[in-house]
Amino acid sequence: MAEPIRVVVTGAAGQIAYSLLYMIARGEVFGKDQPLILHLLDIPPMVGVLEGVVMELADCALPLLRQVVPTTDPLVGFKDVSAAFLVGAMPRKEGMERKDLLSANVKIFKVQGEALDKVAKKEVKVLVVGNPANTNAFVCANYAPSIPRENFSAMTRLDQNRASAQIATKMGVPITSVNNIIIWGNHSSTQYPDAGQGKVLVNGQWKSIVEAVGDNAFLEGAFVETVQKRGAAVIAARKMSSAMSAAKAACDHMHDWWNGTAPGQFVSMGVFSDGSYGSPKDVIFSFPVEIKNKQWKIVGNLPISDFAKSKLILTGNELQEEKNEALSVLDSN
Ligand SMILES: NC(=O)c1ccc[n+]([C@@H]2O[C@H](COP(=O)([O-])OP(=O)(O)OC[C@H]3O[C@@H](n4cnc5c(N)ncnc54)[C@H](O)[C@@H]3O)[C@@H](O)[C@H]2O)c1
Repeated sequence: MAEPIRVVVTGAAGQIAYSLLYMIARGEVFGKDQPLILHLLDIPPMVGVLEGVVMELADCALPLLRQVVPTTDPLVGFKDVSAAFLVGAMPRKEGMERKDLLSANVKIFKVQGEALDKVAKKEVKVLVVGNPANTNAFVCANYAPSIPRENFSAMTRLDQNRASAQIATKMGVPITSVNNIIIWGNHSSTQYPDAGQGKVLVNGQWKSIVEAVGDNAFLEGAFVETVQKRGAAVIAARKMSSAMSAAKAACDHMHDWWNGTAPGQFVSMGVFSDGSYGSPKDVIFSFPVEIKNKQWKIVGNLPISDFAKSKLILTGNELQEEKNEALSVLDSN
């Protein structure tokens, strides 16, 4: 058996973590032969809940789980970790302005970036789930200059999974028969879910989704809107935000980063933009990426329709604005 690796989940007393911790500890992300030491980071008012989570993890009797470290101290939470799931964030409360939300989160991700910089392994892979995920990842990376920028990412995999599920349902095929759907831009309602490069397996043959669906009005209309508004639809139905599906998506994201993507297939991740596809540089923008040896690479030269281009501009502008707002909060502190 390999040596255990340390993995941190922040917001460990919250609802996404409740599903996520179990999935990680079962070996769904790092493999069935990779022992784990789980670090659980939350804030002081949640210490009691955290104790309950620790009890439940013990009671799960999970073979790969060697130790659990619950803490409210980022310097303990991030110590020697190889992977970090940054789920904890300040939620939007009634009457809260967007700027207040951003400001509260900028402070959290500054502290966490600084702690990662000080005590995490330099090769740590950081996945930001807590919203606004893209800008939080940007802030975190900026405060961890000793860790390569490529090691910071934001989650748009839930959007990708939602989009793939919509196409699978439309075509009446299993989810494994759909791939290469792209989420461009911000994890917000300006994201652009793009089925233009996607493939679907129909009657034993991989076909372009555009051809197989044969309904551009759907692909540019109801499909995009359903994915963009799916989070709100879940909240309206469940009275709580997506948690099980968010946890599964976080596992998928880190799993593919750790293990690589299959030849010819790509996944979407929010990563530092190099300006590809006309996106603004140096924001965390969701692109299609291929992954090998734990390194992602933006898939280049994909043909982009004029419709897609206009959507990319919209979401890119929003990310640039969020980044500027975050920087102004940091400057004023
Ligand atoms: N990127 C995505 O696709 C996606 C999807 C769903 C939810 N989210 C976001 O994930 C986040 C968590 O969602 P949830 O449903 O688990 O929320 P939750 O409120 O149930 O849990 C959040 C937890 O984070 C903790 N927390 C707050 N500040 C912290 C800090 N500074 N350090 C450590 N922990 C801290 C809270 O105490 C709480 O236990 C939210 O920001 C939500 O908007 C993102």
